[in-house]
Amino acid sequence: MLRVFNPPWREFVTINVMQKLLTPTLVDRFGREIRYLRMSVTDRCDLRCVYCMAEDMTFLPRKEVLSLEELEQLAQMFVGLGVQKIRLTGGEPLVRQGIVSLVEKLAAIEGLQELCMTTNGTRLAEMAEPLRAAGLSRLNISLDTLSADKFHTMTRHGQLANVLQGIKASIAAGFRHTKLNCVALKHYNADEAGQLVEFALSHNLDISFIEEMPMGEVTSHGRVAEYISSDELRAELSRHFNLVPSAEQTGGPARYWTVAGAQSKVGFISPHSHNFCGSCNRVRLTATGKLLLCLGQEHSRDLRHVLRRPGSTNEELEAAIREAVQIKPEAHSFDVQSSDVQVVRFMNMTGG
Ligand code: GTP
Ligand code: 5AD
Ligand code: SF4
Repeated sequence: MLRVFNPPWREFVTINVMQKLLTPTLVDRFGREIRYLRMSVTDRCDLRCVYCMAEDMTFLPRKEVLSLEELEQLAQMFVGLGVQKIRLTGGEPLVRQGIVSLVEKLAAIEGLQELCMTTNGTRLAEMAEPLRAAGLSRLNISLDTLSADKFHTMTRHGQLANVLQGIKASIAAGFRHTKLNCVALKHYNADEAGQLVEFALSHNLDISFIEEMPMGEVTSHGRVAEYISSDELRAELSRHFNLVPSAEQTGGPARYWTVAGAQSKVGFISPHSHNFCGSCNRVRLTATGKLLLCLGQEHSRDLRHVLRRPGSTNEELEAAIREAVQIKPEAHSFDVQSSDVQVVRFMNMTGG
């Protein structure tokens, strides 16, 4: 009689394979798993950063923007499809009415591991505590300069003091691993990189320096003239700090260094000089419910249309998302040598 030998590991392998098959994961044509959804909850903002918006912006009529219920429905669907991390962005997410209750609803979604927010910090002084209580896991706060004058120039009218108070409030509210985002422009704020790192170190915050991306037409500066590469910035910082490369892979676009003897990480987001598209794990939802498959390309699918179609079902929505993931492009095609507008929409449509 033929005896079938069933090694114990076989059962283990079978269970693992079965689990993979049963968990409905979104995988694109290049084998990248989509685990991270960035949701823009509004295109509005109380600042007008020179690299992000025109001075004179026309914002979307409210009925075009997804409702809080629609946002929640989509978040639930994406988590059901394997998304583990959601980041709320804007415009400025904290100007959206009802944002705290949205956070509360999303934080309660079973299977969601991290609910984060990227904010300009102007409203955190009042909102950090309620956001923490509502279940927000982590914050990224934009901070391009520590000079009140420069802040006023770079944001076209903002008050630095509000953001600094907001950062303090977020620490007091118990947020940890907060990251500061600094878009580095050669003739505006690049000379302050060292002071910004000092600030991050003294508050136990992480900081990322970001190469400007050519989104929308800017009039205040020339993008080619303002370009400073992450390598150049890091070389300058290395004269003052002992930067040690970190092996940490966060699944995000930043490459990290640590400062010897400190807890903070110093990251560099370098879409031009160190492309990270090969490991991209994210998709973006605009405030109007367009699913964008890449920040630097126009490939998209209108999910609001599916959501609002009379009689539409969850199955149709899921099918639309799955189809959309199949047109995710391999990479962005930003060209730093060109001053042409390469992606027509401004950053406030997608929140970065
Ligand atoms: P972590 O979860 O902390 O890693 O956040 P993050 O860096 O993914 O998000 P954040 O909103 O803080 O964005 C920081 C910068 O990274 C912004 O300038 C974003 O536009 C940029 N960024 C985030 N994701 C991508 C991406 O997929 N492609 C490109 N080109 N830039 C991205
Ligand atoms: N290039 C790079 N980063 C940008 N951000 C906004 N516009 C740009 C741009 N053109 C950053 C903001 C914020 C994050 C969401 O994206 O400073 O930190
Ligand atoms: Fe507002 Fe952020 Fe754009 Fe600045 S970068 S204008 S803070 S959305």
